[in-house]
Amino acid sequence: MKAQPLKPATSRALWGNHFDHVQRIVLCTPKQRRVQHLLLKFNGTGSQTRRFLSALSRHVTYRPSDPKPGGPQLSIGFTYRGLEALKLPLRVLLVLQKLAPSFHLGAPVQATTRLGDTGSSAPDHWDSGFQLEALHAVISLHHDDDAASTELLKRVGRLAKGFCVQIDDTVPRGENFSLTPGRPEERWVHFGYRDGLSKVGINGWSHDPDIPPKEHRKLRKVSIHNPGEFLLGHPDDGGANPWALAAQPQAVRSFFCEASFGVLRQMAQDEPAFRAYLKQRARWIALGSRGTIDEDDAIELVRAKLCGRFADGRRIDPETQQPTGAPGEDFDYAGDAEGKGCPFGAHIRRMNPRGGQIAHQLRRRPLLRRGAPYGDRWQEGEAPGIERGLLGLFFCSSIENQFEHLLGEWADRVPMGNLDEGNAKDPLASRHEDPDASFVLPGDALQRGGVTEFKGLKPFVRTRGTAYLLYPTSDGLEQLATEDHGHLWVDAVDREDYE
Ligand code: HEM
Repeated sequence: MKAQPLKPATSRALWGNHFDHVQRIVLCTPKQRRVQHLLLKFNGTGSQTRRFLSALSRHVTYRPSDPKPGGPQLSIGFTYRGLEALKLPLRVLLVLQKLAPSFHLGAPVQATTRLGDTGSSAPDHWDSGFQLEALHAVISLHHDDDAASTELLKRVGRLAKGFCVQIDDTVPRGENFSLTPGRPEERWVHFGYRDGLSKVGINGWSHDPDIPPKEHRKLRKVSIHNPGEFLLGHPDDGGANPWALAAQPQAVRSFFCEASFGVLRQMAQDEPAFRAYLKQRARWIALGSRGTIDEDDAIELVRAKLCGRFADGRRIDPETQQPTGAPGEDFDYAGDAEGKGCPFGAHIRRMNPRGGQIAHQLRRRPLLRRGAPYGDRWQEGEAPGIERGLLGLFFCSSIENQFEHLLGEWADRVPMGNLDEGNAKDPLASRHEDPDASFVLPGDALQRGGVTEFKGLKPFVRTRGTAYLLYPTSDGLEQLATEDHGHLWVDAVDREDYE
């Protein structure tokens, strides 16, 4: 087994760093338009599973710095239960228990208290593949539905069968779509919003295919983060590096170095309810405006207020309430300090307040987002009950401080220090049980028409399952797949301990 030294984390060193043993999915937006997530359960012995991983590992996609990757992209993340089934040395499991307690406990245990998953979103109602004991790993195949991906999928199926790995392929297939005629490269999500616009820069990484150096230089400071926010073993934005693991032996450090935590979250979206809500609120605005705003424009304005920017990605001008700026340009809320454009309660302002006022302002909580929508696009007059939603896939270095804090605190309640005067939850991502909770619209542009808040937000989104995963690097996966890894790690530990 090859044990890699812990990479130096100074930004000078990073300019030359391709991060090429990190799984590509962690650092890059997949170019492929489709995705299939397979939920795995290891039913065989540790040895059988390791042989499965050894055969699979040559198909896993790394090299995030590759500017023109071709063919399908395969990624794999493990749950804590999966690592246990692989008989990882206790010493490694103890590191996870101490430094990543939510990963250790698993998403179904944390969801009600830390992710706001109550009512029909509660873990008891999740699809069976996401239940705690059922899930050991997730394989994600991003593809363009070509012969290569069909062949790869078959090969994975054969390998799984040969090594007693059970595959649950019931997670619906994700497929990106565009709502702009003639622009198939754009990515949109249900509820009618363009996605893939906000940028997360990684300090010192010049090989990012998503944000080439010219664009990277234009990013605002608040949109650039230290690698340690996403990759273990590097300092985070505050300079802390809990995964330096200086007291651990080399084999343990090597396993965690530049791995990342991922969260897969399947969310069903009730688009008819969302659209009915937009229409109803728009009618009030149109009526209140005494003919100055027509109903269709008002629908777009309500849609914009809930997300925090117009459907096509342009911002809301705080004075005119019209679209401003270009979709995808980096911004902060300095010009909208009172929330007259983007309300404090809006989805994107909660999820990324940028430089804005919020509790622990200095602690930003970035996520890398790699999700894709599933299900057919909404159509006027469609039959009721059509299933559609979002397969969210998020990466970070701390599930507790990033993913869970965003959903359990910033989406679910008004964060301390935020100027939001309302008591509603995140309008896009949360459960809404209180019909009187108010989503406050600061400013007087709409208030002139008598609209100061939206009430009656519905649970437009229902969680169907969430998985907390660890995405090892190529070296980490090699360690997991090494046939006699138990002995190897123990030997290495003992040797280093007594040297
Ligand atoms: C079905 C539910 C959801 C929908 C429809 C949705 C929709 C959106 C949209 C349209 C954007 C703007 C994208 C862009 O500007 O590039 C966005 C941004 C974002 N969302 Fe969600 N989202 C959902 C759930 C979630 C969840 C569960 C999280 C996890 C915490 C999340 C975290 C974020 C973050 C961090 C951003 C970036 C904000 C920024 O940088 O301005 N979203 N979401």
